[in-house]
Amino acid sequence: MKKTTAAITGVGGYLPKYILDNFELSQMVDTSDEWIMSRIGIKKRHILKGEGKGTSNMAAKAVLDLLEKTSVDPMDIDLVICATVTPDMAFPSTANIVCDKVGMKKAFAFDMSAACSGFLFGLQTAAAFIESGKYQKVILIGADKMSSIIDYTDRTTCPIFGDGAGAVLMEPNKNGLGLIDAMLHSDGSGGKHLHMKAGGSVYPATEETVKNGWHYVYQEGPAVFKAAVSHMADTAVALMQKNNLTADDISFLVPHQANLRIIDATANRMGIPKDKCMINITEYGNTTAATLPLCLWDYERRLKIGDNLIFASFGGGFTWGAIYLKWAYDGATMAKK
Ligand code: UT7
Repeated sequence: MKKTTAAITGVGGYLPKYILDNFELSQMVDTSDEWIMSRIGIKKRHILKGEGKGTSNMAAKAVLDLLEKTSVDPMDIDLVICATVTPDMAFPSTANIVCDKVGMKKAFAFDMSAACSGFLFGLQTAAAFIESGKYQKVILIGADKMSSIIDYTDRTTCPIFGDGAGAVLMEPNKNGLGLIDAMLHSDGSGGKHLHMKAGGSVYPATEETVKNGWHYVYQEGPAVFKAAVSHMADTAVALMQKNNLTADDISFLVPHQANLRIIDATANRMGIPKDKCMINITEYGNTTAATLPLCLWDYERRLKIGDNLIFASFGGGFTWGAIYLKWAYDGATMAKK
């Protein structure tokens, strides 16, 4: 009997309407379009506005887009995983809330917390459920409302992040398409360089934690940059070698969108030319768990059945990794208008 693999069979996405561009940012903090473009490569980011709106609002819209494009009934979904570091609340999980909003009443659902690597950790997890033979239709969401944890008076972090959501449908495949191999890593010693200190069980919200700015992203940029470049590139190259892939065999690199210089360094080490590297950081910024599915959403039209994709990510934790996946459908037949 042929082995069951887990294939991506559809992509949905959502970006909130409000656009915060570098000009508006430069009126909020001491920065400039020139600095942000040359050091990070971002022109604008989408921001979710509106009282009472959180990550689940964007995630639900991405899932509705996905279900409409794939013509799948929400009642047929078995499992929903939502990768996010900005859940609507500590509990219930955002995945649970999205199920309610979209009518996925038969699915069991949970969140995955792995920061910028959340979508990759989720891909491996979803694949394991499908490969077990017990689950037929799994939705993996990557969604973050980063604007809810960003200090817009801190010029070292506020230009980087944006809000957004992406979602993929995963189904069993018997033709060798889908997730082929994964190399994923965690190293808790990196936590000191990138974290949000309060709001958990160690420092629940108090007047003091708010005053100290502990509910915002804390990042030591250069330390994270250095680790991101080496780990993303090393892992992606190791995965290529393990699977006997040369740069010519790869149709697209799908890299986490944290900094254009990190993306360039990873692509260079792999020998991947720029036109085979998915890039949308300029338009969206770093949407954390949403960057990778939003790349697929934007490039879906250009993806063909059998294409070899290498995903690579690095983020808070530290967490990082690379995944080798064979694309399972001709994207032009389903891509957004
Ligand atoms: O996705 C999660 C993982 N995160 C990442 O991968 C992020 C990794 N880190 C980075 O992308 C970069 O380190 C940053 C974009 C965060 C910062 O870029 P950098 O080239 O590492 O700059 P830096 O922190 O070394 O700062 C260089 C200078 C400093 O000024 P002095 O001390 O040289 O006078 C900063 O104060 O740039 C200054 N600076 C800015 N200037 C204008 C920092 N932020 C800004 C700004 N506008 N927004």
